[in-house]
Amino acid sequence: MKKDEISKKWWKETVFYQIYMPSYADSNGDGYGDFKGMTSKLDYLQQIGVKGIWLTPFLTSPKVDNGYDISNYYEIDPTYGNKDDFDLFLKEAHQKGIKVIMDMVLNHTSTDCKWFQESRKSKDNPYRDYYIWKDKSNNWESFFGGGAWQKDTVTNQYYYHKFDVRMADLNWSNPKMVSEVQNILRYWLKSGVDGFRLDVINFLTTDGITADNPIKNGAQEHLNDINQAGVKEAMKIIKTTVSEFDNRFIVGEIGSDKIEVLKQYQSPELLDVVFNFNFGSIKNFSAKRIFDELQSMEKNMSNYPTLFFGSHDMPRMMNRLADGNPDRALALAALMLTAKGVPFIYYGEEIGMQNIVSDSFDEMVDIQGKTHYQLAIAKGKNPTEALLEGNENNRDKSRSPMQWNSNAFAGFSSAKSWIKINPNYNGINVENELKDEKSILNSYKKLIALRNNEKALQYGSYEKLEFQDDQISFTRILGKDKITVVINFGSDKKIALPSGAKILLGKTSLKPNNFILYKN
Ligand code: GLC
Repeated sequence: MKKDEISKKWWKETVFYQIYMPSYADSNGDGYGDFKGMTSKLDYLQQIGVKGIWLTPFLTSPKVDNGYDISNYYEIDPTYGNKDDFDLFLKEAHQKGIKVIMDMVLNHTSTDCKWFQESRKSKDNPYRDYYIWKDKSNNWESFFGGGAWQKDTVTNQYYYHKFDVRMADLNWSNPKMVSEVQNILRYWLKSGVDGFRLDVINFLTTDGITADNPIKNGAQEHLNDINQAGVKEAMKIIKTTVSEFDNRFIVGEIGSDKIEVLKQYQSPELLDVVFNFNFGSIKNFSAKRIFDELQSMEKNMSNYPTLFFGSHDMPRMMNRLADGNPDRALALAALMLTAKGVPFIYYGEEIGMQNIVSDSFDEMVDIQGKTHYQLAIAKGKNPTEALLEGNENNRDKSRSPMQWNSNAFAGFSSAKSWIKINPNYNGINVENELKDEKSILNSYKKLIALRNNEKALQYGSYEKLEFQDDQISFTRILGKDKITVVINFGSDKKIALPSGAKILLGKTSLKPNNFILYKN
């Protein structure tokens, strides 16, 4: 196929919206979001133009890592409802033209999972090889800190856990385990999900425990424990299984900051698209870095990148990249919704939601059961420094409940939520945003509508992609259709439109953080 030939796919026409399950809408007053709550918000999502939802894990889990530690792959966690609630949510979403993809965690399970409970019983248990057991540990480290091995007293062997000690890694060199995973995928595809977001999918242990990882400048280089040679084969099996069903989509979370690593996993036989964290999760704002990354994705992943500035694993875009400035946040949204790629909005971003700040030491418990505050104290920090560090490192700060209105509990629940609600919800909430013509939300709506209506914004290739004076500009071209986008992160500018151009959004005089979209 020629580079620019269009291959039509629904996901290329879709603006996705990530919902962090515990925090979206609570229907039964237990302080956790649930399916019934989400079903009641589908009108809202339809109204803003979202055509795809990514749900973070909702299968049964002890929630050591809020669902990324699954204990039963065939059951909805009761916190979120039951299978009927799920079916109704999916049916109504589909009726509204909204597809739903689910987060699938295949690198590890909770140690509460029946497979693990069996596996730990004895060395000859039929489930033993579903996980990775060794007489001796090696130097591999957990991504949540500390070593990646836990000695189990029942059989006196170590099991391998890349994340929390209560999340044991699956053994992908065991064909029985793999076929079990295939059946899980089939079950949810048959239930009607439109695809998967595959959690840390390049971390699968396909080739077993190989050599120790090298240490560079005092830190471990993850050379042997991730991107193992067999990962692509495993992805192929996943893709083939998903392809038994029509029209499904796979987006992979690839833990790597190297575009060469990312790009090798994105292909018709492997993953449809992958997340590039160099673009989405940069720590501080830099128009040049964002541009460089867009350019690098165009060069390396010309078939289709993803575009996002927020997720449940990073501080909110409004704080991290926009420094609280709504114009900057909107300019970034304009970029994400008009550049080439599949956009993913993180819930609440569309109303300018901000990080929560902990004012109580026990409020935010990290995945290992300790607060980041406690971890910082253990490292010798004083209480003030520890609180600062605790807030800095805590992923929960971007996971606070969706702010629907200024009623008690932000309209999220009728009772206290599982995590603090941002006290700014009186001002920042959906109800207020909808009323204000110039609000962030109404601008998101306009941008999403353009993205939904203009094929050039969905499929167009770049005619130009340029950076000058902190201004990012590009023209998307599809047949005779051309749309130009100018996003000004620098000082005041006046844009000279080509003759006959029609403005779709914005004005020709651009103040800092203003943008314009026009058809030429
Ligand atoms: C992914 C998830 C993150 C989780 C980790 C382990 O990175 O996004 O939230 O903690 O995988 O499953």
